[in-house]
Amino acid sequence: MEQLLKRARECAEALKKQDEITIVSHVDADGLAAAGIICRALNKMEIGNEIKIVKKLDLPVMQSVSGADAVMFTDLGSGSLDLMDDLGPVCIVADHHQPAGSSEMAFHLNPHLFGYNGATDLSGSGATYLIARALGDNVELSDLAVVGAVGDLQHVREGRLRGVNRLILDEAEKNAIVRAEKDFQAFGRQTRPVHKLLEYASSPFIPGITGNSAQILELLASLNIELKEAGEWKSWVDLSSAERRNIISALIQKCLTEGMPPERVQNLVGEVYTLLKEEPGTVLRDASEYATLLNATARYGFEKIGVDVCLGDRAGSYRKANELLLMHRENLARGLNYVKQTGMTTLSNLQYFHAGDHVFDTIVGIVAGMCKNLEGVDRHLPIIGFANSDDGVKASARGSQSLVERHLNLARAMSDAAHSVGGVGGGHDIAAGATIPEGTEAEFLKNLNELVGQQLS
Ligand code: C5P
Ligand code: C5P
Ligand code: ZN
Repeated sequence: MEQLLKRARECAEALKKQDEITIVSHVDADGLAAAGIICRALNKMEIGNEIKIVKKLDLPVMQSVSGADAVMFTDLGSGSLDLMDDLGPVCIVADHHQPAGSSEMAFHLNPHLFGYNGATDLSGSGATYLIARALGDNVELSDLAVVGAVGDLQHVREGRLRGVNRLILDEAEKNAIVRAEKDFQAFGRQTRPVHKLLEYASSPFIPGITGNSAQILELLASLNIELKEAGEWKSWVDLSSAERRNIISALIQKCLTEGMPPERVQNLVGEVYTLLKEEPGTVLRDASEYATLLNATARYGFEKIGVDVCLGDRAGSYRKANELLLMHRENLARGLNYVKQTGMTTLSNLQYFHAGDHVFDTIVGIVAGMCKNLEGVDRHLPIIGFANSDDGVKASARGSQSLVERHLNLARAMSDAAHSVGGVGGGHDIAAGATIPEGTEAEFLKNLNELVGQQLS
């Protein structure tokens, strides 16, 4: 930890020397949060800056920033260090993806270089926050670091944030910026009416409850839960803690009697994060809902709107982001339905679906992750989702904690399998992505299946 924080201070020192910095960040919740953090920290010091959000860091992107004095790469960069060697500007990298190539660079902050895991212990926005914190008193930005970590699902593996994330969370809690508590982990605690929250609960699916409004109303009535207050639907956070506890107990009981394995039932409850500086009852009050809102902008080419929200816009851009969120949720539901209907194909060491043009390439990874909870999906095999994209075919892979314990490393497998067919890939042990040339899916799958088999043996 000491070495990691020292590296953060060195990166901060390099930033302080600049008059003008180009920020290049990744097009997802974590990337947007990271860009927001560093931009706000630099603004406070009156250091000029400009934000560029990109899908991936390739040669054209590098060329486009080669005229800058200094470039700060956030939530990406560690996979493209060799491209920075000949770049004119001073380069500073705050990332958490598995590094590729030499790790000699001076201003490179990545948890993997310091014995931490970038899939669980620190996100891109977390790494960026460590630098912001070394620039000055920026504790008010810690909530964005929590949003980024939750957006990358870093809390999922253990049901709570851990590693360096924990240090950031502790700081946020001490300063009354974030509150962490154990609670029901369904999406929409702040904004969905209680019965709707239960109806859409999907990780895990609750037998007899998910998608079953009649049974939900019956259950809530049997527990004497009032659904409305002064004519308005109550959301989960409006319930008393005793009411919440009673509902959770009833749900756990239901899952157990339906024969759900205890380790899955456990997933009903986990740490949730409330952003205390945000308005109660809004999407931004909950880290998971906030992150989904950011993804709803970034994944559809409206990343500027998401960045505005991170920078504090609560008017025009915020309204637009909320509209995009509705569409994003519909797209995810439609994507999940598509997989439900077409099913998965199972090979010896993985299972896959090909969504073609039915799912956007930018959200196929999220859909692949959500599939874990579908009936008929094997929980002991990684899931690969394909979708057509502009530059070939996008592949997204999602594993699980138990597979990683058995040495699954999707970043390596996806990168190697992609290379074998002329594509590129990378990411984390538990979740990775790749882009491959059209028509190479069969060859790619054959190689990936072999590589995963070797890792797991
Ligand atoms: O963009 P990258 O780091 O930036 O994002 C990490 C990805 O890994 C996210 O898409 C997240 O959904 C996925 N992930 C996962 N399960 C985990 C941890 C991360 O699907 N347990
Ligand atoms: O795109 P997807 O959500 O499947 O990405 C999962 C993880 O793999 C993300 O952290 C993403 O940044 C990473 N990734 C990568 N190289 C690629 C594609 C995805 O490092 N070519
Ligand atoms: Zn990230």
